[in-house]
Amino acid sequence: MAYTAKIGPSILSSDLSQLGRECERMMECGADYLHLDVMDGHFVPNITFGHPMVECLRRCIGPDPFFDMHMMVSRPEQWVKPMSAAGANQYTFHLEATTNPGNLIKEIRESGMKVGLAIKPGTTVEELAPWAGQIDMALVMTVEPGFGGQKFMEDMMPKVSWLRSQFPSLDIEVDGGVGPDSIHRCAEAGANMIVSGSAVVSSDDPRSVIALLKNVVIEAIQKRSLDR
Ligand code: DX5
Ligand code: ZN
Repeated sequence: MAYTAKIGPSILSSDLSQLGRECERMMECGADYLHLDVMDGHFVPNITFGHPMVECLRRCIGPDPFFDMHMMVSRPEQWVKPMSAAGANQYTFHLEATTNPGNLIKEIRESGMKVGLAIKPGTTVEELAPWAGQIDMALVMTVEPGFGGQKFMEDMMPKVSWLRSQFPSLDIEVDGGVGPDSIHRCAEAGANMIVSGSAVVSSDDPRSVIALLKNVVIEAIQKRSLDR
């Protein structure tokens, strides 16, 4: 099986005045990558940060940690080159935010980043499917994007299951309300890249939470390969 279990803490709910330190702390606690939430106040009703912050973060944390940029912005085309120059590794844009996904995918690849494609809860997985062969990762949102700490939407799991059945080696990410209470459903459905914000960052013991999430996904992947 081509894909592996990866846990990417979302630092949205961390102490943003200490972002560099918080990212280091997550990596020290066993994170496989960092999920960085960019919000522009248009695509979602909230604002976070942009490429200047990412550039500083890269300088602070060194070349190794993988930055998955979750671009909750209205004009994703605008930030491809600046994000690449700032040190982003993957550019995950929303299908709802662009009229020309094919061109955007091409631009992201040409800039040297991996391609992630995200869908909001109201977008069907059939709308994403035509692009699945051209992307590195599909992100199925399990909350309405915009804020951390929301309730996990279990009714998004059929989207994950369908994607896993159609695209057996695609990286599939879930994001929103994912933690020890909801990880089993995500893993059984076939998600392998797990974003977890408040459940990890606000925990007294992030290392244990990350390990728990990862073990559940590893077990589900092993079970899936035995069942095949
Ligand atoms: C929501 C963001 C998520 C969020 C996850 O719009 O995309 O990445 O920070 O945080 P939790 O896990 O707390 O829902
Ligand atoms: Zn996110």
